[in-house]
Amino acid sequence: MLENIQKSVSISVRIGGYRGCMNALVINCSPVRTGATAEIAKLVSEQLSAEYSVKSICIDDYSFSFCKGCRSCHNTAKCVMSDAIVIENIMNEYDEADIIVSVSPSYWADIPGQFKAFIDRCTPWCNTHEPHASIKPGKKGYAIALRTGPNMSECERIIGSIEHFYGHLEIECKGHLGLTSIEYKTDVEVRKQEIVDFCKSM
Ligand SMILES: Cc1cc2nc3c(=O)[nH]c(=O)nc-3n(C[C@H](O)[C@H](O)[C@H](O)COP(=O)(O)O)c2cc1C
Repeated sequence: MLENIQKSVSISVRIGGYRGCMNALVINCSPVRTGATAEIAKLVSEQLSAEYSVKSICIDDYSFSFCKGCRSCHNTAKCVMSDAIVIENIMNEYDEADIIVSVSPSYWADIPGQFKAFIDRCTPWCNTHEPHASIKPGKKGYAIALRTGPNMSECERIIGSIEHFYGHLEIECKGHLGLTSIEYKTDVEVRKQEIVDFCKSM
């Protein structure tokens, strides 16, 4: 009997510690593929790859038009624009993922326009109207914001924008990290431990 209990404990610990079949999506929300944001996204991907199958994308991998605000999707859960498939492809990546990590720089104290344009195009998935499109439930979302200036409040604003988006997609916000005083990828090296420690919470 005791032997059985011990066995079940050790089995559950092993399963709990094994997440190799889970998927992570890491998004570089900057249009710069080789900058500081990309460097952080790369470090996060490397850290997560021990426990997750990681897919990394950059918002600049995709080309799409701005949302026209027509609101057709409020009644149909579908976008009428001719490039709707591009957004659906990105959302398929979200749907495949168990955890989503968005890494965004500050551009004029907010998320870059390219990422904002993507969020606007996700209105068919917004849970404030019925019907709406949806991704599978149970996903966890993390946000990392970086900026050159010294004040954390600007990072918090960016984190707020990302978490607002997560909320309307019903992605649970599980953690965030703000990084100030970063301009170039060479500034990331000295912050590596901070980022590695944050990844341990995922
Ligand atoms: C168009 C633009 C606007 C920016 N606006 C701000 C800003 O308002 N506040 C700030 O602290 N840094 C600002 N930055 C600096 C970036 O947040 C910082 O350099 C970041 O590391 C850029 O990462 P990236 O090269 O990966 O896009 C701006 C950079 C650019 C290119």
